[in-house]
Formats: sequence, structure tokens, C-alpha cells
Amino acid sequence: MRTHTCGELNKANKDQEVILCGWVHRRRDHGKLIFIDIRDRYGLTQVVFVPSVSPVAHQEAQKLGPEFVVKIKGTVNVRPDKNVNPDMPTGGIELLAKELEILNTAKVPVFEIEGTLEASEDVRLTYRYLDIRRSKVRESLLLRHKLCASIRSFLNTQEFVEIETPVLTKSTPEGARDFLVPSRLTPGTFYALPQSPQLFKQILMVSGMDRYYQIVKCFRDEDLRADRQPEFTQLDMEMSFVDQDFIFDLTERMYKRIFKEVLNIDLPIPFPHMTHAEAMAKYKGDKPDIRKDKGNNKEFAFLWVVDFPLLKYNLEEKRWESEHHPFTGINPDDLPLLESGQYDKIRGRCYDLVLNGNEIGSGSVRIHRRELQQKIFDIIGIAPEEALRRFGFLLRAFEYGAPPHAGVAYGIDRIVTIITGHESIRDCIAFPKTQKGTCLMTEAPSEVDEKQLKELGIVTVKK
Ligand code: AMO
Repeated sequence: MRTHTCGELNKANKDQEVILCGWVHRRRDHGKLIFIDIRDRYGLTQVVFVPSVSPVAHQEAQKLGPEFVVKIKGTVNVRPDKNVNPDMPTGGIELLAKELEILNTAKVPVFEIEGTLEASEDVRLTYRYLDIRRSKVRESLLLRHKLCASIRSFLNTQEFVEIETPVLTKSTPEGARDFLVPSRLTPGTFYALPQSPQLFKQILMVSGMDRYYQIVKCFRDEDLRADRQPEFTQLDMEMSFVDQDFIFDLTERMYKRIFKEVLNIDLPIPFPHMTHAEAMAKYKGDKPDIRKDKGNNKEFAFLWVVDFPLLKYNLEEKRWESEHHPFTGINPDDLPLLESGQYDKIRGRCYDLVLNGNEIGSGSVRIHRRELQQKIFDIIGIAPEEALRRFGFLLRAFEYGAPPHAGVAYGIDRIVTIITGHESIRDCIAFPKTQKGTCLMTEAPSEVDEKQLKELGIVTVKK
């Protein structure tokens, strides 16, 4: 339908006949002359309707309202110097309209697409399709796309294979509440949506896949904050026959490459390391923001936090629990502490990647021996029968030649939020949930038909 996009015409296209399609961004009616800016994802182009050029198009242009969808045929005019708009890539030209077709009308939008007034977030999320037309959200989605494309192209050169894992699965051990899905075929049983593909990726290592990655949705029913969503995306990775240093080196080369490709920034590597003990002593937290130490000119300060304790004591429940998750390996030097019961001193082979004071990734060298895995379950109070019920498939897999393996997962939504400078993770997700876990556009979650509930054998209690 179109010969060009609204962001690409310039003086080199002088006198060419072109066709543009897009939304009416702005209309200025000067009586004889009608100016509109026509917008698409690529940019804006000024169009001018002059009665002497096309009386029909000029008359039709009087009907145009904001956000009408139009197709315009015209010739490219180079603007006189005094009318050049240096702030717009197309600011050196305008389209002299010959034909106008109104492809669709539009209601007056509930907020200005590019206005000075910010609409409330609730209104923006209810009308997300209008919100995504604004440059703020659009640009973060485009950057997110570039970032994921860059990640994929880097990992594909490093022998990684992208493998999908199930969404209807069993409860996983990341420590949050599960979202459950009732099974119709086996009434009274439930699938859990994965909090991460943790167990599947470890099993892929037992399967000999060697290097796995996936850009994948994870689901956690937890209290939401500015940097948390109930469904979010991880770059999930697992590798066989590697150690922590290998993962650090690979990660650093990956971030160096994607920062160059996406932001044209030369990221210094390797990233500094800090032990968990030092972070807690010096920064009173496990996510230090080291920008200040480096003088704030530092726009992006990555930091590895290493040597987390393997276990922590839950005073309320009077029991030991995993600091990361129960599949985390043990620092070999600390194995005697396991025997002597000094659990609080054992260091896990786990690491977090922190960017500007935010945890953007987490991973570990895993346990790959069945006996050690059972020992950890015993310490954190998962009895053998329960371990079998919950993670039996992994434990069984470990009996068939599990290689030493390690992995990591990075939070894509968080990374995009930080590098675009947005305050909320919601600005970097096309269709996010509110703090209350609702989608204002689709009105999910919502009630379902009695018939559906009956089929699932579910009786609901109205609150
Ligand atoms: P973890 O639970 O630390 O590790 O998650 C990894 C990274 O995912 C991001 N993240 C989130 N982002 C948005 N909203 C959330 N609710 C949310 N929760 C986590 C964070 C975090 O660093 N399976 C392990 C990884 C591994 O051991 O390989 C895991 O999921 O950026």
C-alpha cells in the first residue's frame, strides 16, 4: 500500500511521487493550506494539502481528526530553508498531497499521543494500544527487540541451542507461590506454571544438549513492586563441563557485544567481583550500587556478587532453607562444614549479577550427584518421599550419568528498564500487569462460566 515509511523521506527524494500510510498525528488548518503530520512506527512526515494541487484531497483533508488512518499519494517537496525543521529526520521535506484516502476514522484518543500532559498509568494501561503508539513505550519495545536479537545472535555463535520447555508443568523451587492450572482430564490435579525452567534445563544437560538457552516467560505469584511482574522474561542458560569463571567470561563477552550493538557503548570487561560477606558489611545489602565508588560518570556499573551462603536459617519456621535454590553446588573447600553441621558457614557456588544496584541475574554451579542432592534436601527439611514426589524426575535423571553443569538466568525486563532509564518494569513490557496483578486492557483475571468450572470440578467461594 505504501512506497515509503513516515520516517525516511529526505532531500534525496526530491520530486518523487510516493505513497505514505499512517496515523494523523497533528492537523493545522490554515484555511487555504492544511498541514498534517502523518505518523507511523518509523517517524513523522509533514503533508500539505493545497486546493490548487488537488481540490478533492484538500476537501477530504478537512474531515481528518486525530489518529485517523490515512493513505496519501503525493510528491516530495524540498522545504525552503526557513521552514526546515532540524529536529526531525524528515524535516527537510514535505509531501505535497495529490490523493487522500481515509482508511479508517478514530474516536478522539483518551489521552494525547505525544502531549505534554502525562495520562495516569491506569488510563494508559487500559488503552495500551494507544500508549504503545507513544514514543516512550514504543522505543523501549524496539530496544527490547534489538537486545533479544543481539543475545540470540551472540549465543548462536557460541554453540548454544534454544530449546523450549513446558509451560504446563510441576511446581519448581524458586521460592515464590505458584500459579496453578486445574486439569480437566484428571480432576483434582493441577499443573503449576514454571517459576523458571530450572529443572528442565538441568535435565537437558543430563540429555547431553551441552549448551542450552531460552528467552522464556516465568510465572511467580508474589507481591509486585516496580521491578517485579507476575509473568516476566528470563534469558535462561545452562552449560555442561564448565565452571563459574567460564560463565562469567561468556556473560561479559555477551554484554559487551549487546551493549555495542544496541547502545553503541563500549563496556569495559571483566566486571568486578565482590563477596557476599563484603557486600553485606560495606553496603548493607547484596545488591551494591558501585557507581559512586567509581566516580556516577559510570553510567552502567556491573558487579558480580559471589560466595553467597548456601543456606540461611529461617527463625520463624525454625529451619534451614536455601539462599538461592536447593540445586546450588557447594564450595569444595566447605564440604567438611557440611559434615560437621556448620551450615551457616558453607559457601554456595552461586553468583548474582548486579547492575546499578539491581539484581539482573542469578545462577550457580549445580549439584550433579544424587547423594549430595538428597543430603541438601534433608538439611532443608525435604524428606526423601517428598523429594521424590516433587523432584523425582530430576533425581532419577541424576542416576543416569549427569555431567557437572552450571547456569544462570538474566531478567530481560529488568535489564531493559535499567538501560532505557525507565522507573517501572511496566514501561518495558508490551502488556504488563498492574501492582495488583491485573491486566486493565483485557480485564484479566476475570470470572469464568459456571460450565467451565463444573467441567474442572471447581466450586468457588465468593469473598
Ligand atoms: P532467580 O529467581 O534469581 O533465578 O531469577 C533470575 C532473574 O530473573 C529476574 N526476576 C524477575 N524479574 C521480574 N519480575 C520478577 N518477579 C522476577 N523474579 C526474578 C531477576 C533475577 O535475577 N532458575 C534460577 C536461575 C539459575 O539458577 O540459573 C532463577 O530463576 O533479574
